[in-house]
Amino acid sequence: MTHIYNLQKKMLTRKNLLFLIKKYKTPIWIYNSEIIKKQIKKLKKFDIIRFAQKSCSNIHILKLMRKKNIKIDAVSLGEIERALLAGFKPKNNNIVFTSDIIENKVLKKVIKYKIPVNAGSIDMLKKIGKKSLKHPVWIRINPKFGDGHHIKTNTGGENSKHGIWNPKKALSVIKKYKLNLIGLHIHIGSGIKTKNLHKVCNAMKKYAIKLKTKIKFISAGGGISIPYKSKEKEINIKDYFSQWDKTKKKISSILNCSIQLEIEPGRFLTAQSGILIAKVYAIKKMGKNIFVLINSGFNDLIRPILYGSYHKITVFHKKKSKKKRKKIKTIFAEPLCESGDVFTIKKNEIIFHRKIPQVKLGDYIIIHDTGAYGSSMSSNYNSRPFIPEILYKKNNFVQIRRRQTIKEMLSLETLI
Ligand code: LLP
Repeated sequence: MTHIYNLQKKMLTRKNLLFLIKKYKTPIWIYNSEIIKKQIKKLKKFDIIRFAQKSCSNIHILKLMRKKNIKIDAVSLGEIERALLAGFKPKNNNIVFTSDIIENKVLKKVIKYKIPVNAGSIDMLKKIGKKSLKHPVWIRINPKFGDGHHIKTNTGGENSKHGIWNPKKALSVIKKYKLNLIGLHIHIGSGIKTKNLHKVCNAMKKYAIKLKTKIKFISAGGGISIPYKSKEKEINIKDYFSQWDKTKKKISSILNCSIQLEIEPGRFLTAQSGILIAKVYAIKKMGKNIFVLINSGFNDLIRPILYGSYHKITVFHKKKSKKKRKKIKTIFAEPLCESGDVFTIKKNEIIFHRKIPQVKLGDYIIIHDTGAYGSSMSSNYNSRPFIPEILYKKNNFVQIRRRQTIKEMLSLETLI
C-alpha cells in the first residue's frame, strides 16, 4: 500500500501537475504504468492472469498488459476488436469471450478467430453448437451464492442473471453439439470479501467432480478489491492463491488431468494506477453547507452516484502559499444538471462532507483510485465530450486518448 502511494507521489510532483494541466487542460485521466506493473507482479503465481478489460479498456493499457504476458477477457464485439487492435493473437486461449448471450455478429467473429467462449447460458451454448462443431467453450457456473461491494456488483445466486445454474445440463448440451469444453469459471461478484473464498473453492471442486470431464483450465474469476480508504487493507494474495492452488491440485488429481489456474482481475490491476484531475470553478455557501463545484461530473466518474463509492480526494493548490489552510467540511459537487451529481456522496445520501484543507477558486482536485471503472464507464450525458487519457511511463506522460470534440460527439446524429 505504502509502495503504491509512493509511486503515485513520485508521479504527482508539482512540476508534473502544472505541466499536465497546462498541456491537456482539465478534466483528465492519468494512469501510472508502474503501479499496473506492480499489481501484475503480485499475481504472478497464478498460471494465467486474464485482464477484465471492462475495468480500463484503452488499447494502450491493453498493450501494456499483453507485453506483460497477460491474457484478455472480452465481453462484447467492441472488446474483442480492442483486444485484436492491441495485438492479442486469438490463438492459445489468449482472448476469451465471456457473456450470458451471444449476438450473431459476435458469433461470426468468435468462430472466424476460434475465440473460446465462456458461456453464461445454455441458450448461448446451443447457438454456438448449431454453428460451429468443436468450438472451445467454458462453462460459467453460478454457484448459487454471490458477493460484491454493492448489490449491483453481486453476480451469484438466484437474484443474479449471470452464469449457468445447472452445469450438468450445460454439459449434456456441450456433448450433444460436440463442443469442446476446456474450462470452468466462477465469478461471484466484484469487490468480494475473502471470507467467502473457501465457499467458492469448494463450489468449484464440487462442480468439477460432478461433471467428471477432463478440462484444461479453472478460473477463479475477478472481484478482488483494493483499499479505497486509508484504513482498509489489501487482501492477502498469498493466502488467496494458496487456497485456489490447492483447489486446482485436488481437481487435477481427481479428474486425472493437468489444469491451469486462471485469475481474471480488473480493478486489482488498474484502480490504484488512475487519477482524475478536475478544476474548481465555483464555491457556494448554501446555509450550513459549503459546495465546491468542479468541472467533472458523473458523465466521467459514475461510481459515486451509482454505488455510493468512496474515492480519496486531494487538493492541488496552483498558487503556492506558505500559510497552512485550515480543514473545513466540504461537499464536492459536479457540473451536471442533476442533484445527485455530487462526488462526496454516500449510499442513499446526497450530502456528505469531507474535511479537507480549504479549497479556493482555481485549485485543482485529484480524485484517486479511478483507474478501474472510471473512464470505461463514462458517458456523454449532458452532452459533455469524453475526456483525455494520459499514460505515465518511464517518467513521461503520453496521451493515449485525446479529448473528444463536440463535433465528433454530434456526428452520429447529423445524418440528414
Ligand atoms: N470477470 C467477470 C466475469 C466480471 O464480470 C468482472 C466484472 C470481472 C471479472 C472483473 O471484476 P473486478 O476484478 O474488476 O472486480 N462497475 C463496478 C464493477 C462491475 C464489475 C463487472 N464485472 C464498479 O465500479 O465497482
